[in-house]
Amino acid sequence: MALFGKNKPETVKPRGIINSLGIDLGTLNTVIAKPSGDKFDLYQIPSVVAVKKDDPKAVLAVGEEAKLMLGRTPEDIVAIRPLRKGVIESIAQAQALLIKAMEIGKKGGEKINRIVIGIPGDSSEVERKAAEDIGKNAGADDVLVISEGLAAAIGAGLPIAEPNGTMVIDIGAGSTDLVIISLGGITDIETVRFGGDDIDTNLVEIVREKYNVEIGIHVAETAKIEVGMFHSSADLEIYETEVIGKSADTNRPQKISIDSTMVADAAEPVISEIIKGLDLVFQRLSPELVDGVYKNSVAVGGSSQLRGLETRIYDELLTPITISDDPMTVVAKGAAIVAAEPRALDPEIRINVF
Ligand SMILES: Nc1ncnc2c1ncn2[C@@H]1O[C@H](COP(=O)(O)OP(=O)(O)OP(=O)(O)O)[C@@H](O)[C@H]1O
Ligand SMILES: [Mg+2]
Repeated sequence: MALFGKNKPETVKPRGIINSLGIDLGTLNTVIAKPSGDKFDLYQIPSVVAVKKDDPKAVLAVGEEAKLMLGRTPEDIVAIRPLRKGVIESIAQAQALLIKAMEIGKKGGEKINRIVIGIPGDSSEVERKAAEDIGKNAGADDVLVISEGLAAAIGAGLPIAEPNGTMVIDIGAGSTDLVIISLGGITDIETVRFGGDDIDTNLVEIVREKYNVEIGIHVAETAKIEVGMFHSSADLEIYETEVIGKSADTNRPQKISIDSTMVADAAEPVISEIIKGLDLVFQRLSPELVDGVYKNSVAVGGSSQLRGLETRIYDELLTPITISDDPMTVVAKGAAIVAAEPRALDPEIRINVF
């Protein structure tokens, strides 16, 4: 059931022109969704900000331009990620990132009245307030902060208004949100502070142990995306890819091979933590919601694209899940739906209308 399907009633259309944006401030990527008729204009920038080393509030570049400086900056410039494990760590830099996101999202000089920002579901009141403040300081009149899990469920078109329950597993770069939703609200949430970044770090370590060769974190990430998988009972093809690292023996470049099994080994501690989190969620899950969760669970986030995830979850939890075909943008889309019509969050309206 799509939230705003063809039968979207007159009553939930925004009155007057409200320019709104949905923004997913991610650890790695910031995604901006702007409602445009029945669809969205989508933009993505790396969550990276370049600042002066001795004056971190002096922002020199944001997004793509700043990413190019990561690890390659002159001594007096540092390129940093303002979010760590999904949480805003450096307020001034997160502010710069959001201002850039809003600039990108608005056409010409138009004013953005309302933005909705997705943040991790277990964020503290202080973290929530920080997101709200940077939104206001970036120039939006109205700032709503909602859980990324709820935004993902709305963006993925899950039947969140129903009383049967539905589950979202959002495996990002820095963290994984496990969210149970029923009657339009979050009934349970567990945040596991592990994600794709940890897989990359583990892979660097595994390569070092196996070959005595040091590879860059970006090389590890690319290899992971190219050949990666999770360990599972599925009979998945093993691929391999060649990369260049630095030999610790000779200090010379050395060609080595990374295969799917090595990535699965690197991903194992991460998926184990996610399964532990799911175990807790399932322990607490009301029997009333089991049927809905069994029938309507979806995985989103960039790291949900590693092969074997559905099988591994089924192996461990006997619960089928669907991998979103749009894993990197559903949070921003869900936020944009709420930004266009905040009453999308109101369960009574959804129950009556959709
Ligand atoms: N095809 C792919 N296969 C496996 N992993 C992928 C793929 N594409 C992207 N990733 C990984 O997904 C992660 C980024 O996902 P996403 O954009 O959802 O994270 P984020 O929203 O920035 O982070 P968070 O939600 O933790 O704040 C990175 O770790 C990236 O390496
Ligand atoms: Mg995310």
